[in-house]
Amino acid sequence: MNAMVQITFLSNGGLIATAPENSNLLRVSLKEKGGIPFKCGGGLCGTCKCRIEEGLEHTDAIKPKERKHLRPEDFEAGYRMACQTFVTGDVKVSWVVQNGKGVVAGTSADRVEAST
Ligand code: FES
Repeated sequence: MNAMVQITFLSNGGLIATAPENSNLLRVSLKEKGGIPFKCGGGLCGTCKCRIEEGLEHTDAIKPKERKHLRPEDFEAGYRMACQTFVTGDVKVSWVVQNGKGVVAGTSADRVEAST
């Protein structure tokens, strides 16, 4: 039987979910209504950028896809992409709550060019 881990969704009022060890972070968020933003679920869009505030040592290895959206200093600060991250122990996770279209902090906004 798998050990259970506890995931605390800090940006969702501290909601706590339990899941089997080695669960995918985004998958748990979806199942338990954790609230981590996402679009593609497949490591492409970067929307699921989140920060492991506690328990970074309880996450698995950084995937190549994450390196396209996050810089080395982001990883050092605990940022991961939830859809690419598996948890091996208790973690507490936060993210930037956006009321708009799921814009992720740190990415450049679409540029509207005015033509005359
Ligand atoms: S949801 Fe698109 S990269 Fe994770």
